[in-house]
Amino acid sequence: MFATLYSRLAAALMTVFIAIGAIMILASQRMLETQRLFELATDLIVGTVLFSLIAALVVFRFLTIRLRRLAAAIEAFRASGFATPARIEQAGGSDDEIGQLVAAFQEMSERIAMQLAQLSRVDHERRELLANVSHDLRTPLASMQGYLETMLIKANGLSPEDRMRYLQIAVKQCERLGRLVRDLFDLTKLEANEVRPKVEAFPLGELAQDVVQKLALSAQRRGQMLSADVSTECPIRADIGMMERVLENLIENAMRYTPEGGKINVSVRAAGERVAMQVTDSGRGIHPEDLGSVFDRYYRANRGQSGDTGNAGLGLAIARRIVELHGGQIRVESTLGQGTTFTVELSAASADQPAG
Ligand SMILES: Nc1ncnc2c1ncn2[C@@H]1O[C@H](COP(=O)(O)OP(=O)(O)O)[C@@H](O)[C@H]1O
Ligand SMILES: [Mg+2]
Repeated sequence: MFATLYSRLAAALMTVFIAIGAIMILASQRMLETQRLFELATDLIVGTVLFSLIAALVVFRFLTIRLRRLAAAIEAFRASGFATPARIEQAGGSDDEIGQLVAAFQEMSERIAMQLAQLSRVDHERRELLANVSHDLRTPLASMQGYLETMLIKANGLSPEDRMRYLQIAVKQCERLGRLVRDLFDLTKLEANEVRPKVEAFPLGELAQDVVQKLALSAQRRGQMLSADVSTECPIRADIGMMERVLENLIENAMRYTPEGGKINVSVRAAGERVAMQVTDSGRGIHPEDLGSVFDRYYRANRGQSGDTGNAGLGLAIARRIVELHGGQIRVESTLGQGTTFTVELSAASADQPAG
C-alpha cells in the first residue's frame, strides 16, 4: 500500500496532523471547562509547533538516511576508480523511488566495472600480441640477415655447396616470415569480423581427400602414415578456401607433433543433421592442463620443448574462428603420449537448400 515515497510521506504527515488535531480538540474542551483561555492557548501553540518540528525532523531523517547511504556508495565507487561495483544493503519493502534508484545505480556500477575490466584485458592482450609479433618476426629476419651478410663478407671465399646451403636457409626463413605475416593478417581480419565466407555447397569428404592427397608426400617424407577415411560425400555449405585452411592447419599440426612412424587419419562422416570431421594422430598428445588453451592465439603448449618450429601458435586460433564463422564447433580430445583428436562439427547442407 505504501510502495511509493509519496504515499509514505503522505501517511506520515497525515498521522502527524491527526495527532495535532486530536490534541487541539482535547485542549479546546479543557479551555471551555476551566476558563483559563490565554494560558492554555499559549501552551497549545508552543506544543503544536514543537510537536510538528520534531515529527517533521523524524520523518525527514527516516527518508534521507537511505539517500545518504546511496551517496556514500557512489563516493566509494568513485574512490575505487570505478573498479569495485557498489554494494548497498536494502531493507525489505524497498521498491519505492529510492529503492529503484539504488537498484539502478547498483546495476550501472556493475556494468561499468565489468566493461572497465574488459577494456583493460583487451589492452593487455594487445600489448602481449605486439610483443609476440615483434619477437616472432625478429627471429627469422635475424637469421636471414646473418646468412646473407656472411655471403656478402666471404663473397668468393665460399664453396658453391655452402653458398647453396646459405641461400636455401635464407629462402626458408623468408617463407617462414611470409607464413607468419599471412597468419597474423588473416587472424586479425577474422577477429575483427572483416571477412565474410563465400558460402557454397560442396562435399566435405572430397575436400578432405584432396587435402590429404596434397599433404601425403610430405607426411611420407617424415615417415608418417597419412590416410583419409571418407564413407559418404557429406555435403556442407561453407567457404571452400576457409575449410581447406582448417584441414591444413589440423593436419599440419598432427604431422608436426607426431613422431616418425606415427599415424594420422582424417575422417568425415554424417551425424544426423551435422557433419563431423576428425583429424586423429598417434602423436605426443596434449597435457590436460593445456587442453583448454590450445585454441587461444599465441598459445603453444610446452613452448620450451617444442623448440623453434617457426610457428607462432596461430593455426588453431585461425581454425576456430573459421569454424565459428560457419556456425560450427571445434573441440579437442587428447591423451598424453598416445595421441590427439580434433573434431569439427558443421551443419550438413540439406537437399532443399539451394546450392551455390
Ligand atoms: N595434433 C597435436 N598434437 C599435440 N599437440 C598439438 C596438436 N595440435 C596442436 N597442438 C598444441 O597446440 C598448440 C597450438 O597449436 P597451433 O595454434 O596450431 O600453433 P603452432 O602449430 O603454431 O604451435 C601447439 O603449439 C601444440 O602445443
Ligand atoms: Mg599449427
